[in-house]
Amino acid sequence: MLAHTLFRFFAALSVAVITSASPSVLKLRQSIAPPRNWIDLGRAPSTHVIPLRIALPQHRFLELEQHLVEISDPFHERYGDHLSKEEVEALIAPHATSVDAVHEWLTGHGIQQESCDRSSAAIGSLCMYPLHRRKICLARWNRILTFEFRLWKHTQDGDVLIRTTEYSLPAHLDDHVELIQPTTAFHRAKGQRTSLHFSPTPAAALSPSSDAMITVPGSGVTVNATCNATITVSCLKQLYNADRYIPRATTKNTIGITGYLEQFANFEDLQKFYADQVPNAVNTSFDVALTNGGCYPPPPFLFEMIITGLWNFYEGGLNSQNISQAGEEADLDVQFGFGISSPTPGRYFSTGGRPQFTPDANTPTDTNEPYSNWLDFILAQKNIPQTISTSYGDDEQTVPKDLARRVCNGFAALGARGTSLLFSSGDGGVGDGNADPASQTCFTNDGKNQTKFLPGFPASCPYVTAVGGTVHIPEVAVNFSGGGFSNYFPRPDWQHRAVTKYLKSLPKGTYAGLFNHNGRAIPDVSAQAVNFRIFFRGHPAHVSGTSASSPSFAAFVALLNDARIAEGKSSLGFLNPLIYKLEGEGFNDITTGNAPGCGTPGFNATTGWDPVTGWGTPNFEKLKEIVLDC
Ligand SMILES: *[C@@H]1O[C@H](CO)[C@@H](O)[C@H](O)[C@H]1NC(C)=O
Ligand SMILES: *[C@@H]1O[C@H](CO)[C@@H](O)[C@H](O)[C@H]1NC(C)=O
Ligand SMILES: *[C@@H]1O[C@H](CO)[C@@H](O)[C@H](O)[C@H]1NC(C)=O
Ligand SMILES: *[C@@H]1O[C@H](CO)[C@@H](O)[C@H](O)[C@H]1NC(C)=O
Ligand SMILES: *[C@@H]1O[C@H](CO)[C@@H](O)[C@H](O)[C@H]1NC(C)=O
Ligand SMILES: *[C@@H]1O[C@H](CO)[C@@H](O)[C@H](O)[C@H]1NC(C)=O
Ligand SMILES: *[C@@H]1O[C@H](CO)[C@@H](O)[C@H](O)[C@H]1NC(C)=O
Repeated sequence: MLAHTLFRFFAALSVAVITSASPSVLKLRQSIAPPRNWIDLGRAPSTHVIPLRIALPQHRFLELEQHLVEISDPFHERYGDHLSKEEVEALIAPHATSVDAVHEWLTGHGIQQESCDRSSAAIGSLCMYPLHRRKICLARWNRILTFEFRLWKHTQDGDVLIRTTEYSLPAHLDDHVELIQPTTAFHRAKGQRTSLHFSPTPAAALSPSSDAMITVPGSGVTVNATCNATITVSCLKQLYNADRYIPRATTKNTIGITGYLEQFANFEDLQKFYADQVPNAVNTSFDVALTNGGCYPPPPFLFEMIITGLWNFYEGGLNSQNISQAGEEADLDVQFGFGISSPTPGRYFSTGGRPQFTPDANTPTDTNEPYSNWLDFILAQKNIPQTISTSYGDDEQTVPKDLARRVCNGFAALGARGTSLLFSSGDGGVGDGNADPASQTCFTNDGKNQTKFLPGFPASCPYVTAVGGTVHIPEVAVNFSGGGFSNYFPRPDWQHRAVTKYLKSLPKGTYAGLFNHNGRAIPDVSAQAVNFRIFFRGHPAHVSGTSASSPSFAAFVALLNDARIAEGKSSLGFLNPLIYKLEGEGFNDITTGNAPGCGTPGFNATTGWDPVTGWGTPNFEKLKEIVLDC
């Protein structure tokens, strides 16, 4: 303790002394090659404030996982017996000795407990938040962690992040700190949207006759022929056999949509969409939950910028005319997610985290790690929507493995609370969606620069349900449907049988060295992904992407949850063990099409599970019977 007091004394005299006089041996904790497509712009401004999360080991996570396995297995007696907020918190809390060790270390550097916002759960069992008055700026972190935060710019989209390629920690903290982020994490939450076409006249006009109907082989349902060109709410309800269902548990059941970046959903666009496609829902609305400065019109970070005179630094020059305009990703997700499940109450989670600034400005980009912010927020809530869809992701390899695992564990915790999580599987097929070997971009980030298929994260996390894409009626796999095998997460038991069966069907040596045969395979399921008619900034537009598939599939899951809750049963929670036990029952198997990428034709859709469309698209009435039975 004496040494410690001295240490603090020195700290007060001169911070520079600390590193050289540090009593503890430092150990390099992470060191990465500068990631592809990011260029180093130099030192980050030392006065910039950065919220760092220090994640402490969750020594009881295996227990949580065991609970999750049991309560998600429809043949287990504990099926649906979800854990409470308090139970989950106890299972993901760090050990008290770790908390003490970290506090002691930080206090030694003059960072008092009041500057730390300790999250009860989630990703950062201990969060470092700059509180309003006690900000911890970069210069300080540079010294404590003995690295240098630098500005990095993405060569293609111009994003600027403050990151480092390595960091060190005192060796005695080895067992007490799992990771510190955002430091070496260069991923962003990107909307999975391949295309946005504006079209003032409905594409339904392209169709032969608006009264013609298509009978779908397999499920035998009939669908308006216009749905082959343009997808609407009623198209999906017909195609997925849910057009007779009326939600009943609307006081208990909720569906959530998450939004990242500068995206926010627009109420007026939603009303126009409802008038066009869901007349009964006109004048109904949804809740908005703001997390971490998430933006809702007008976005809080913009207010802040106006006040601090940084207004002009917003790339693209937002002005007062478009300050309250919508993002197309958010509009799409909200309109279809809430439209299909209406009148089920909807909640939109707006997580801030990536306003863009010009790099030369003295206050550069925001520096958050998106999923951690959201997880901290949502796991602290008492009531969580039973179904949540996210249409954002990035290449798995851009997320450091330890962080990916930690975030994924956070999703497991949400599953244990009884929430079904759906994520878009990605829009690049097995990688970059490019069949041309000359222009492929599937290179590893690890300094070796090998060609490899690149699965997306968070879809590759085994505790979420990854949703791929289809097109046309009868449905075929859409050629951008993200699929493949995780390089981080091993294949879970519940998936083993289906995936090994698929792998055995591949000709020997297929894509040798390009993918991990033992990895968690995606997607799990799929839904339509092309030409969704939405309203965007007041006008009809058509959008495509697995961004459309995830909220749509989620809406049908919300209706399944409705059916169960209305009968006094629990919500479905983590879906994958159930989905794989059904072995295709309740799904329309998609057996044609493939999703190219990385200079290859990619994998093929085939009978049963495949890494393009998973088990296929939902047959709601059949699934409803099944889930009411378990
Ligand atoms: C088919 O869709 C068109 C365009 O949305 C609509 O005008 C027509 O009434 C629909 N027909 C049937 C039979 O649902
Ligand atoms: C739907 O469109 C696709 C692609 O144009 C076509 O192959 C298919 O035959 C159409 N379906 C019907 C039922 O006309
Ligand atoms: C929706 O609200 C507006 C304004 O209050 C009202 O004029 C309109 O009749 C309402 N529409 C429906 C379908 O309830
Ligand atoms: C905002 O509007 C201006 C012109 O009115 C346009 O140049 C700019 O691209 C818009 N910004 C965004 C983010 O839509
Ligand atoms: C996917 O299909 C679209 C539309 O048919 C086509 O324009 C595109 O080139 C295809 N992409 C690849 C990678 O084959
Ligand atoms: C990786 O390899 C490809 C093809 O060999 C090359 O075009 C690219 O420049 C390399 N990238 C790096 C970062 O070395
Ligand atoms: C996909 O199907 C084509 C045509 O049947 C076949 O040539 C190819 O080997 C298959 N690819 C894979 C990865 O299964």
